[in-house]
Amino acid sequence: MTTAPALRGAREPVTDGPDEAAEQATFDALIAAEQRIEPRDWMPEAYRKTLIRQISQHAHSEIIGMQPEGNWITRAPSLKRKAILMAKVQDEAGHGLYLYSAAQTLGITRDEMTEQLIAGKAKYSSIFNYPTPTWADMGAIGWLVDGAAICNQVPLCRASYGPYGRAMVRICKEESFHQRQGFEILLALMQGTPAQRQMAQDAVNRWYWPSLMMFGPPDDESPNSAQSMEWKIKRFSNDELRQRFVGMLVPQAAVLGVTLPDPELRWDEDAQRWHMSEIDWTEFHEVLRGRGPMNAERLRNRRNAHEDGAWVREAAAEYARRQAARAEGKVA
Ligand SMILES: [Fe+2]
Ligand SMILES: [Fe+2]
Repeated sequence: MTTAPALRGAREPVTDGPDEAAEQATFDALIAAEQRIEPRDWMPEAYRKTLIRQISQHAHSEIIGMQPEGNWITRAPSLKRKAILMAKVQDEAGHGLYLYSAAQTLGITRDEMTEQLIAGKAKYSSIFNYPTPTWADMGAIGWLVDGAAICNQVPLCRASYGPYGRAMVRICKEESFHQRQGFEILLALMQGTPAQRQMAQDAVNRWYWPSLMMFGPPDDESPNSAQSMEWKIKRFSNDELRQRFVGMLVPQAAVLGVTLPDPELRWDEDAQRWHMSEIDWTEFHEVLRGRGPMNAERLRNRRNAHEDGAWVREAAAEYARRQAARAEGKVA
C-alpha cells in the first residue's frame, strides 16, 4: 500500500523575522474573507495540529464505527436489510478513507495515524464503545448516531481547511441516507408486534443519551472550541448543535411513536431553547478514558484486523513497486 509523500519539512513554518508576520497576516485575511486554506498555504502550527487531531479522530471514529453495525450484517432479518446494512457499513469505511487522505495533506502519514489508533493513543468517538445487542440497535444507531453526526458535520462542510470541508460534503450526503435507513428500521419495528415495539423503544432508551454526548462537553467546559470557531473550523458551539439535534428529534419521535427517555424534555418558550435533564458527564468521561463497555474489544478487533491485513498491504506495495519498475522499463 502506498504511503503519503512526506510533506513534513517541506512546509515548516517560517519562525523568525518579518516573513512570519506577513504569512500570518495572509492567513488571517483568508480566514476573515471566508476563503479556504489549502495544503500549499502557510498556516500556523497550532491550526495544523488542531486539524490533524480533529480529522484523524474523525477518521478513526468512522473506521471503529463499522464494528457495532458490522456485528449485525450476518444476522440482518432479510436480504434487503442485509444489503442496506452492508452498503451503510461500507460507506463508513469510505468516510474513514476520505478523512485519512485529508489528514495526510497536513503532513502526517496513514501509518502514523493507524499506529496511534491501535496503540490506544488516539481518541475516537465514545459512542462506538456501546454494545449492539438487538436488531433495533441498527435502527437507533442510524436515527440517533448518524443523525447527530449530520448535525455536527453539515457545518463542517464550510470548514476553513479545504480538503476537510470537501470531504465532508460527500460524507454528509451519505449520512443522510444512513439516518433515513435507521429511521425506517425503527418505523417498521414500531408498526410490528408489541415485542418489536418494545425492542425499538429499548434501543432508543439506550442510545439517546450517548448520542447527545456526541456533541461534546457543555460550552463552558469545552476549552478548544473558541479557538476552533475563530479559525472557522467549527461554526456552532457544542450546546447550539445539541439543541438543534433535539429539535430535529422531537417531531420525528412523534412520527415513530417512540418516547425520548427524558421526562424533563420540553420547549422553553421564554428561553427559546429545549429544556432537558442534566447529561451524565461522568459516564462520558469514563467511556472517553477507555472504560466504556466495549472499548477494549473495539481496539482489539482493530488491531487484529490490522495484523491480519499485513499480507495484503505487503502484496499491494510489491505490486505497485513492480508496476513502477515496469513503467520505467526495468522489468520485462
Ligand atoms: Fe460516516
Ligand atoms: Fe454514517
